[in-house]
Amino acid sequence: MEQKSNGLMGWIDARFPATKMWEDHLSKYYAPKNFNFWYFFGSLAIMVLVIQILSGVFLAMFYKPDTALAFQSVEMGIMRDVEWGWLIRYFHSTGASAFFLVVYLHMFRALIYGSYKKPRELIWIFGVLIFLALMAEGFMGYLLPWGQMSFWGAQVIINLVSAIPFVGEDLGIWVRGDFVIGDATLNRFYSLHIVAIPLILIGLIVAHIIALHEVGSNNPDGVEIKKNKDENGIPKDGIPFHPYYSVKDIVGVIVFLMFFSIVVFFAPEMFGYFLEHANFEPANPLKTPEHIAPVWYFTPYYSVLRAVPSIAGSAFPGVIAMGAAIVVLFFLPWLDRNPVKSIRYRAGWYKILVAIFVVTFIILGVLGTLAPTDGRTLLAQVCTAYYFAFFLLMPIYTKLEKNKPVPERVTMK
Ligand code: HEM
Repeated sequence: MEQKSNGLMGWIDARFPATKMWEDHLSKYYAPKNFNFWYFFGSLAIMVLVIQILSGVFLAMFYKPDTALAFQSVEMGIMRDVEWGWLIRYFHSTGASAFFLVVYLHMFRALIYGSYKKPRELIWIFGVLIFLALMAEGFMGYLLPWGQMSFWGAQVIINLVSAIPFVGEDLGIWVRGDFVIGDATLNRFYSLHIVAIPLILIGLIVAHIIALHEVGSNNPDGVEIKKNKDENGIPKDGIPFHPYYSVKDIVGVIVFLMFFSIVVFFAPEMFGYFLEHANFEPANPLKTPEHIAPVWYFTPYYSVLRAVPSIAGSAFPGVIAMGAAIVVLFFLPWLDRNPVKSIRYRAGWYKILVAIFVVTFIILGVLGTLAPTDGRTLLAQVCTAYYFAFFLLMPIYTKLEKNKPVPERVTMK
């Protein structure tokens, strides 16, 4: 390769494309100049990932994946004996919730600006895979402190596997590594939580960003900036990611860290939503807690599961509905037939449909934290029906929309 720069950088560049990568992905990567608040969450998700990996590495130094020792190693060892152990643990437990909060907002941004549409379908599909991996990561991590909710939450979810006809029983034993949740389960969840799933997550995130940089970012106007280039081939509405957005994203990171610190230092349990109260008791297979609820970020899907009635005592239909509620996301790029990307230029009634979708999703989330009653189950059923109707009827209603004119160039409001 031709040597462009001198000195140490020149020596490195002749052997490794350091300057080229810096330019391709940062200093000469042109991003639309009209990014708004919603564009903070991708970089925030990367930062939370870093927090989780760093705090996780230190937790793993003191945690003991053994049913006889796990609870003690967390509640006595890490929380009380290890210097600053409490801080590391609260970083990790708060980080888990922050991760989902940031990712839900990031997904919502993609929904309102149509960022899943051509040519960004693969960015979206990698995103949904990331979401699935994140759910697996959260679920397995929650078993590790071996508290009452760790044990019984895992019990409920693994029993769902057993609800699958014919193979369910064997599959349940295969997942647990035993007839009951025990040491074998704890050990494999530990291994998957600290090695396998983080590797998968990192791989998917790299693919997500490679796909993004291949086609370029969407923006709040849904205008393709690459269609308007100057004589040097630079998009007229683009600005170099570095320094403009690297600096802007640092502002986002600082504001985020302020809120994050308030939770870590003043409300790490977040009233039982981030760390559930029942989990301060060691797991006891002989004592079922009165009310078993997953952590808040799973509750919308848990509500879908509970909303669908069992057939002949089998929860299988609910399991299918819960799975379908996530799988349907993969198809979003093909369900939405409106060529206009940004919600700014779509029909007024589509905005209302999206607003109702957000409200029903939050209602499902709240219902999932509560014990079911007849009234709540009915409400969950209505919200579940809306969730599916919103996606599955999209091919029909998005064709009926009357769009507003989309500008040629991005707007700066
Ligand atoms: C660990 C989780 C994730 C990380 C670290 C991550 C990272 C990023 C980053 C850095 C960007 C560019 C900056 C931005 O647009 O905010 C981005 C864009 C995007 N992400 Fe993610 N992402 C994650 C999860 C997801 C998920 C779960 C989805 C959807 C299911 C998703 C869908 C998208 C889409 C569609 C874009 C393009 C947005 C646009 O150009 O308007 N991402 N992601």
